[in-house]
Amino acid sequence: MNTIIEPFRIKSIEPIYFNTKEERHAILEKAFYNPFLIHSNEVLIDLLTDSGTSAMSASQWAGIMMGDESYAGSPSFFRFEKTVQQITGMPLVIPTHQGRASEKILFSIIGGKGKYILSNTLFDTTRANIEYSGAEGVDLLCEEGKYPAIPAPFKGNMDTVALERVIAEKGSANIPLCIITVTNNSGGGQPVSMQNIREVKRICVANNIPLFIDACRFAENSYFIKIREEGYADKSVPEIARELFSYADGCTMSAKKDAFANIGGFLAMHNELLALHCRNLLVITEGFPTYGGLAGRDLEAIAIGLNEVMDEHYLQYRIRSIEYLTNKLIAAGVPVMQPAGGHAVYIDSKEFLSHIPVDQYPGQALVSALYVAGGIRSVEIGSLMFGKYDAKGKLIPAQMELVRLAIPRRVYTQSHIDYVAEVIIEVFKEKAAIKGLRIVEEAPVLRHFTARLQPMTNG
Ligand code: F0G
Repeated sequence: MNTIIEPFRIKSIEPIYFNTKEERHAILEKAFYNPFLIHSNEVLIDLLTDSGTSAMSASQWAGIMMGDESYAGSPSFFRFEKTVQQITGMPLVIPTHQGRASEKILFSIIGGKGKYILSNTLFDTTRANIEYSGAEGVDLLCEEGKYPAIPAPFKGNMDTVALERVIAEKGSANIPLCIITVTNNSGGGQPVSMQNIREVKRICVANNIPLFIDACRFAENSYFIKIREEGYADKSVPEIARELFSYADGCTMSAKKDAFANIGGFLAMHNELLALHCRNLLVITEGFPTYGGLAGRDLEAIAIGLNEVMDEHYLQYRIRSIEYLTNKLIAAGVPVMQPAGGHAVYIDSKEFLSHIPVDQYPGQALVSALYVAGGIRSVEIGSLMFGKYDAKGKLIPAQMELVRLAIPRRVYTQSHIDYVAEVIIEVFKEKAAIKGLRIVEEAPVLRHFTARLQPMTNG
């Protein structure tokens, strides 16, 4: 059989909210052309994020009822701890309320002025937490990862030549950590190969730099290794994940992605002293070490989700569903990141809206157009998210201007995805009418969440 079906039946449903183009136009204007300011019941298909938006399984809901809410020593914690230990091989497990809480704790301890954190690509919250500590984040993405239209199997890889060069330049004493994001969310959801992780590890060991994994999408990355990297076809996903984690000294995790949970995260590691420092901060900011920022029921849902996510029928369907939308868009000539990533489709808005200069935020303009045309909510991953200003206030643009359509896990069916493709292709045909945007208000950090924009009147 060629048809890959959703490997689940639907037991409980939620309504889709319908509205008209005219209504959406008014809503968008009121939300200052920022999708984060639109209410979710004003959205038809919500592809803003795959984070915290998964449908939980019957087992997870059953686990929720089993949650033990004791302040200290809850059995739910020990089930959670054992699951994370088994998957990662890391003995020290620290629960947090979500990924960025793990990042905040980690970088408060190891970051600081004069320090450099090296990565394939840091996600926005990771970068923000590094910079907030006073340290500098350095993205060292492989060359092929920088060109959306050129397909390659592992476009999330770190540039290991650049890694050695930057270590030599900055001095390993100033580099407390190297962190690899799997899959590379900001760079198109592209996977990192085992070979690359091994090579990064070798360089880190030679320079006495610990290696961490930002493990949000570890199962999707492991599945890509299985189907794309030589020597892994016959290995199971848990085996591949275990090998991937074996090269790391620790990891940060958002359980809102590859754990099918609506909230949660953790830090896991080998180093006792670092774990002690982390737990000391945890008690102040998150909670006692056997619950972190979570309820016992959340710990249960995460533990169950972490095992469910490695099911190969699920991962085959998951990766295929992203590829399905990507291929439909490619067939219609829409410029997208190739090949398909693990959790989202990324449109190259610089190419899609080539008449809009980068300082008029083509990505945000496309996000706006998709919302008005079909009620689809997406997110810009470009100069609004990552742009900086130079001393004269001129925009230093991001490497790429992408629009991400993140697919929530186990939530939408094929007909929803067909509808999404239809809307995008319709907008593509009428792209000449789309105007650029300008920022009228912005915050100093993570400005994309709250920025207010307006359409250009002359462009
Ligand atoms: N690292 C990566 C690679 C992420 O994608 C995210 C979140 C985080 C860390 C932070 O985790 O949200 O639990 O605090 N990404 C979401 C997204 C928000 O939409 O891609 P968190």
